[in-house]
Parts: sequence; structure tokens; C-alpha cells
Amino acid sequence: MNRSGLWLTWAELVFLVLVPGILGWGKEGHYTACKIAEGYLTEEAFAAVQRLLPDSAEGDLASVCSWADEIRFHYWWSRPLHYVDTPDFRCNYEFLRDCHDSYGHEGRCVTAAIFNYTRQLSMYHNSVLESSYNLTEALMFLSHFIGDVHQVWDTMIIESALKTFYDKDLTNMIQALQQNLTNAWLNDASSWANCAKNETVCPNAFASESITLACKFAYRNATPGSTLGDEYFLSRLPVVEKRLAQAGVRLAATLNRVFASQVKIAKA
Ligand SMILES: *[C@@H]1O[C@H](CO)[C@@H](O)[C@H](O)[C@H]1NC(C)=O
Ligand SMILES: *[C@@H]1O[C@H](CO)[C@@H](O)[C@H](O)[C@H]1NC(C)=O
Ligand SMILES: *[C@@H]1O[C@H](CO)[C@@H](O)[C@H](O)[C@H]1NC(C)=O
Ligand SMILES: *[C@@H]1O[C@H](CO)[C@@H](O)[C@H](O)[C@H]1NC(C)=O
Repeated sequence: MNRSGLWLTWAELVFLVLVPGILGWGKEGHYTACKIAEGYLTEEAFAAVQRLLPDSAEGDLASVCSWADEIRFHYWWSRPLHYVDTPDFRCNYEFLRDCHDSYGHEGRCVTAAIFNYTRQLSMYHNSVLESSYNLTEALMFLSHFIGDVHQVWDTMIIESALKTFYDKDLTNMIQALQQNLTNAWLNDASSWANCAKNETVCPNAFASESITLACKFAYRNATPGSTLGDEYFLSRLPVVEKRLAQAGVRLAATLNRVFASQVKIAKA
């Protein structure tokens, strides 16, 4: 296999894994997760998404899934909403310990943001509250943050994979994931879509999975003092690819529930 030029020292890896918010999925990862989600939307959810998308999206949800990264300096308050701040070497997620900004303000983190924007979108049909929130922004934030909460430690892995396996073409990777979703992952995918206790969205569970995976895979075989090469990245690729697919399936499931429950509320 050709070297794709992604070599890191162990210390650099530890830095990237432990400093929250530095290493994201980047545009490619968010685009991929949202593109997968598009394929799973119900008619109702699709219609709501079309109505809420800004004109610049030209009807394509995936095209605005990095918006939340683009505005993070303009909307300074949104910066802590991209991650949870789990202490070094802890392998689980706890709300009280991990969900806060760098000043210690509770509830400023990605899981709380996912609840926040899901709640806002659930008012989609409620004309009384129509003006309280910008639901276009709520949709763009939610679509991005469901990606973020599935992140493991990934940008370079995705870039490396695109070069090595997908001819530098994101469409090829998306198609490979879609194919797995209709074959190898078909049964798994229906369970990914569900939340325990029939909740509309369950970001705490998604965050726990990400942290557990990071503990299990990010450090293993990364010996202090060593240099990490393609072998390290590419052996982790299946984990990252599955996370992209899970994020897509779960974003669609969340939007489907959010916009379907409204129909019931509206009829009631
Ligand atoms: C909830 O959404 C509003 C509107 O975008 C925002 O001002 C607030 O900071 C958000 N809070 C969280 C925790 O996401
Ligand atoms: C809602 O947010 C979008 C994106 O920031 C913006 O373009 C639009 O003008 C906002 N709509 C209202 C009514 O403020
Ligand atoms: C597809 O699924 C197989 C079997 O689980 C896995 O080995 C492979 O890496 C997956 N491919 C992608 C693109 O996720
Ligand atoms: C979840 O919802 C489904 C469909 O509405 C219902 O049949 C099922 O009993 C619910 N399960 C729980 C645990 O509430």
C-alpha cells in the first residue's frame, strides 16, 4: 500500500485526541453523514427539511451540514456546543461531569445542543411559537451536531481513506457506505435508528459510544515515542466509516420522529 503521507508522532496523536474540538470530521465527514440521512427521510420529514433549508442549499441538506463550523467564530456562543469535555482517559460520558463550556457553565455541550435544537424543531407546526426560533438554523445545527457527537478522532482517517481507497472522490465513499447499509449493516441499521424508551433523540448514548470507541481504538498500538503511519489509520477506518453511517441513519430517524410527531400534535 502506498504511503499517503499521514504520519504522526504518538504525542501528536494524544494531543489531537485529548484537545476537544480540534479534530472534527471536517466538511467531508459532515457531508457524508447528511447525504446518507437524505436517503432515509420520510415524505413528511423531507417536505419539512425542504421548507426550512436556506435557498443557498438548493434543496440539498448535505450542502449546509458544515454551516455550524463556518459560523463558529461569528456565533461565538456556539463554540462549546460541538463536543463534550470528557476528562483525559475517562471512557464514559457523564452529563454533570462532561457537559459544560470552558468556564464551567453547565449544559453548554453537544448533547445539550442536540436536545435543544430537537426541541426547537418539534415546534415546526406550532404557529404561535413560529417566530421564537430560527428553525432553519435549528435544522443546520442539529444536522451538524448529530455528526459531531458520533466523532471518534477522524479527519485524517477520512482524508487518508479518500486517497487510498476512493480515488479522492467522496461520492465513492458515500456509495460504499450506502451499499453496506443495504447489505452487511441492514439489520444493525434499524437498531441504530431507535432510542431507548422511545425517546425522540438520545445524544447521551451516542456520546458514550464515541468515548468508548476512542478509548478502545485511538490509543491501542500507539506506543509512546512511536510514529503512527497508514497502518494505524487504515486499521481504524472501519470504525470511523461505521460512525459516519450511524450518524446518517440517526439524523434521519431523529428528523423523521420530530416532524412526524408534529403531525399527530397538529391533528390532536
Ligand atoms: C439553544 O438554542 C439557542 C438558539 O440558537 C441558543 O441561543 C442556545 O445557546 C442554545 N443552547 C444550547 C445548549 O444548545
Ligand atoms: C434564519 O437563519 C438563517 C441562517 O443564519 C438566515 O439566513 C435567515 O435570515 C434567518 N431568518 C430569520 C427570519 O431571521
Ligand atoms: C462494509 O462492511 C464490511 C463488513 O462489515 C466492512 O469490512 C467494510 O469495511 C465496510 N465498508 C465500508 C465502506 O464501510
Ligand atoms: C414505543 O413506541 C411504539 C410505537 O409507538 C409502541 O408500540 C411501543 O410500545 C413503545 N415502546 C415503549 C417502550 O414505550
